[in-house]
Amino acid sequence: MMITYKLNTASKDELSRHIIQSNVDHMIEVRGETRQYAQKLVQYAMRFEAWDRNALVGLVAAYVNDLIKRESYITLLCVNPLYTNQKVASNLLTHVVDYVKKMNFVKINLKVNQNNKIALKLYQNFGFVPIKTVTPKIFMSKPINEK
Ligand SMILES: CC(C)(COP(=O)(O)OP(=O)(O)OC[C@H]1O[C@@H](n2cnc3c(N)ncnc32)[C@H](O)[C@@H]1OP(=O)(O)O)[C@@H](O)C(=O)NCCC(=O)NCCS
Repeated sequence: MMITYKLNTASKDELSRHIIQSNVDHMIEVRGETRQYAQKLVQYAMRFEAWDRNALVGLVAAYVNDLIKRESYITLLCVNPLYTNQKVASNLLTHVVDYVKKMNFVKINLKVNQNNKIALKLYQNFGFVPIKTVTPKIFMSKPINEK
């Protein structure tokens, strides 16, 4: 299987479909309907995408637009269940870190559910450290080094 990585190419509909297929719908309930959320991503987020031919199979969406604080925020990370455990999320996160570095941002922040052990471990491997817990969420942050 050949996965290709792209930036900001998926349409709102492709993003919605991917979010639904990845079973993370419940995670964004509080942020409004999936399509509205996808629209917000298209407008404001950088979308780091993993494609298997014409299918979007992995996505990290990050806001990299706070030029005052220079802190970015990962709002969504999801991989289609048929494609998990093949380093898709790890590769996408590497692209995010590289991009944020290039933009001279100083931090990447995110929130993760404390019982999401796979995601927690993945973020820890990437140098994210827990900042505080507001049950059921853990806030994590990764400092970006120079160079
Ligand atoms: C969490 C998620 C993004 C991981 O994506 P992925 O592409 O499978 O991740 P990777 O293949 O890069 O693997 C990352 C690590 O998780 C482990 N992992 C992945 N799937 C696993 C599974 N089902 N069981 C146990 N470990 C697993 C891998 O072994 C790997 O660890 P390693 O580097 O020590 O080998 C994916 O499972 C997902 O989309 N889950 C639903 C949405 C979600 O929880 N998002 C994060 C919320 S903030």
